[in-house]
Amino acid sequence: MTQGRLITFEGVDGCGKTTQLRLVSERCDALGIPFLATRQPGGTPLGLKIREILLPPTPVDAHSALSYESLPVPTPVAEALLFAADRAQHVETVIRPALAAGKLVLCDRYTDSTIAYQGYGRGRDIKVIEQLVAIATDGLKPDATLLFDLPVAESQNRLQQSRQGSTGTPDRLDVEPLEFHQAVRDGFLKLAAAEPKRFHLLDARSEIKQLHQEVWNLLDRILGGKPSFSV
Ligand code: TYD
Repeated sequence: MTQGRLITFEGVDGCGKTTQLRLVSERCDALGIPFLATRQPGGTPLGLKIREILLPPTPVDAHSALSYESLPVPTPVAEALLFAADRAQHVETVIRPALAAGKLVLCDRYTDSTIAYQGYGRGRDIKVIEQLVAIATDGLKPDATLLFDLPVAESQNRLQQSRQGSTGTPDRLDVEPLEFHQAVRDGFLKLAAAEPKRFHLLDARSEIKQLHQEVWNLLDRILGGKPSFSV
């Protein structure tokens, strides 16, 4: 059976990884490379329901039409378990079958997000979160992880701008305090330092097209042995 490759896209909110994933998808499409673009949470019908619970649109001020009282706010453990449930469903029903079919799987967020957000961000025991991640994935690790690193001040600016441009209401995690986002970014950098072979660090402040070319060159190197992937 041919085995595909799992490439994950990670970073703080507003780092631009979703745009980069889309650009890679478009290029794969144009070249006829068999691939699957997907995301967590929300890459399955069940995951979409879990996503609604985890990331409801959230009021940013007292005058908002949305009310805080109506929000389902999970405890830190419940939050980690909900992300894990989304992932377990996604890995078994979507990612593993795509890999078995030899596809290149591009996943917007994966296990490192849980360790960075629910572990470092929430200040929980990293070992416990790692166990949870291992259960949810049944041990499926990414072949490579692209970390789009962005200073938190820049990430907050971008989120603020997209709010003003009314391209979106912030979700529950977007409106966490600065310290939370800083802990998440630091967490990602720690993970990258601990696994330098799997992680590839990219400067998310780069211009979109230039960053895309860097990503593409990187993927070409990572997947070099695969005849279906060439520039
Ligand atoms: P999303 O709308 O996908 O935004 P982004 O473009 O920033 O990825 O929101 C996903 C949110 O969920 C984001 O704030 C990170 C968070 N998250 C976790 O906290 N833990 C996880 O395991 C995952 C997958 C996401």
